[in-house]
Amino acid sequence: MNDVLNPFVLSCRRLSKVYAGSSEDVWVLRDVSFDLGAGESVAIVGASGSGKSTFLHLLGGLDQPTSGDVLIAGRSWQTMSENERGLWRNRHMGFVYQHHHLLPEFTALENVAMPLLVRGLPRQEAEVEAREWLERVGLGHRLLHTPSALSGGERQRTSVARALVTRPACILADEPTGNLDRQTAGQVFAIFRELSVQSGVAFVLVSHDPDLAAQLDRTLRLQDGVLSSASF
Ligand SMILES: Nc1ncnc2c1ncn2[C@@H]1O[C@H](COP(=O)(O)OP(=O)(O)OP(=O)(O)O)[C@@H](O)[C@H]1O
Ligand SMILES: [Mg+2]
Repeated sequence: MNDVLNPFVLSCRRLSKVYAGSSEDVWVLRDVSFDLGAGESVAIVGASGSGKSTFLHLLGGLDQPTSGDVLIAGRSWQTMSENERGLWRNRHMGFVYQHHHLLPEFTALENVAMPLLVRGLPRQEAEVEAREWLERVGLGHRLLHTPSALSGGERQRTSVARALVTRPACILADEPTGNLDRQTAGQVFAIFRELSVQSGVAFVLVSHDPDLAAQLDRTLRLQDGVLSSASF
């Protein structure tokens, strides 16, 4: 299937994930189907342990489903080698996690430039782009700080810049503001949403915060392995 036949940046078809338990199997996802249109924003909500992170890992090709399939930009993870998956992720996707996952020994500028270096961009060009994105998230004055010398909100803004720097088709964000106080969380989320919308980047956001979820195009609830429309 190619990009022309599948208009969605991300699709999953009858996706299931079962963990084998000691007494019984745990069905985290049961035949979940989902499409994400270009530029669309979707919130995933659900109780702790309902499978939100598992779902995002499967969408990102970071975990194997028990059955079903995930297509990114029209290509199935199943058809790719691990190496190809890495390249496809770098080309089409960005990730933001609850814990920043920045490389501790590198500066904010180097962390944000990293996905472009992985793509083979010369260092100078990568750093020009990285600087631009750090300025957009309000960190033009923190370029040379390492993660330990940044505040929690600054670290997450750096993670947002790193996710956007490759201009991906979609971003998967797992509680990106979950570790921040409410005010900082609101500020980081506003920057993330505004820049994604401006850039036409679709995103799937896992959040416990109904106020944040309400600002997106759609909210879906994961419960008992089933994904369905939700309203607060
Ligand atoms: N590797 C694993 N082996 C067995 N069970 C697992 C594994 N990973 C997750 N689970 C189980 O799958 C279920 C879903 O976990 P998951 O981390 O996706 O939930 P979540 O919705 O992200 O929760 P939270 O809101 O607390 O982050 C949980 O019951 C968890 O214990
Ligand atoms: Mg989780």
